[in-house]
Amino acid sequence: MTAKETAMSKGTISILGLGAMGSAIVDRLRESGYDTVVWNRTAAKAEPHVKAGSEHAATVAEAARAGDIVIAVLLDHASVREHLEPVATELKGKVVVNLTTTTPNESRATAAWAAEHGLSYLDGAIMATPPMIGRPGSSLLYSGDENAFAIAKLALETLGTADFEGADAGLASLKDMALLSAMYQMFTGFLQAAAMMRTVGVAAGRTAEDVIAWLSELIPHVGHFAAVIDGEDDDPALRQDVAFTRPAIASLITAAREQGVSSDFLEPLKKHLDELAATGRGDANWISVIDQFPINE
Ligand SMILES: NC(=O)c1ccc[n+]([C@@H]2O[C@H](COP(=O)([O-])OP(=O)(O)OC[C@H]3O[C@@H](n4cnc5c(N)ncnc54)[C@H](OP(=O)(O)O)[C@@H]3O)[C@@H](O)[C@H]2O)c1
Repeated sequence: MTAKETAMSKGTISILGLGAMGSAIVDRLRESGYDTVVWNRTAAKAEPHVKAGSEHAATVAEAARAGDIVIAVLLDHASVREHLEPVATELKGKVVVNLTTTTPNESRATAAWAAEHGLSYLDGAIMATPPMIGRPGSSLLYSGDENAFAIAKLALETLGTADFEGADAGLASLKDMALLSAMYQMFTGFLQAAAMMRTVGVAAGRTAEDVIAWLSELIPHVGHFAAVIDGEDDDPALRQDVAFTRPAIASLITAAREQGVSSDFLEPLKKHLDELAATGRGDANWISVIDQFPINE
């Protein structure tokens, strides 16, 4: 924060929700020169913010009336709807930004509700932890009303990079969920490695070093996989077919069991490779398992 940043108010932003993330967002907006009005279900959490210069709203309606932009950072979809629905009138003419994590369809449902009431609604997804807010590396995704995004953009950019994903309000959430799916599967992979190596007394810290080195070399391969999926390229030097990969995964499962470690997180890949082999696709690139992901066909 610089003295310049705090010198003049740039407008009033109301924040609903003062958990770890809501608090980090209020701190950053205040530091960036915005007047902030805060509401939280448990009112005591507003105290440090009031001491730091925020105003406290006793009700959601009061907060909604006070802000030019109203940001919800609550727990989930249900808590957002519970608190926004009764104040639709007060939210008229404001930009409503929902940064609460919701599924794409939940985001779309809230956008449809907002449209019914003539509200400007932007759905957001936070690709950051609270300490990252306002720092390099913090990334936030938005979708929904593009005009609302244009109005709120300057304020939103104080939190991290602000990318507009499109008019479908579910898009920011969808990308968030897709990236988190990749993240959890990667971390689960590390847990599998650590569980296997600790059976012979290797500390997780040592396995972490090995996994970081190994995955850092391999992560660029997702670009090759993407080219195959998009039908652009299938570099033979990087290609592994189902007939090769299926026994390789079977060996990982056997090795885990031999060490007395669960193979639960490896089994689904083996199941899909088995299905490809059983349907005559043994010579297909193993990443053809992506063809088995759709569930509505
Ligand atoms: N923390 C992260 O790293 C992170 C990263 C990305 C996205 N997010 C998302 O940001 C949102 C907030 O996360 P957080 O880390 O701030 O969580 P948190 O610290 O657990 O805070 C939850 C907040 O939601 C409020 N709340 C819960 N149930 C409510 C209800 N029924 N009605 C009204 N308020 C309710 C809590 O109020 P009380 O104080 O009264 O309990 C609190 O303000 C979540 O959707 C989360 O997924 C968080």
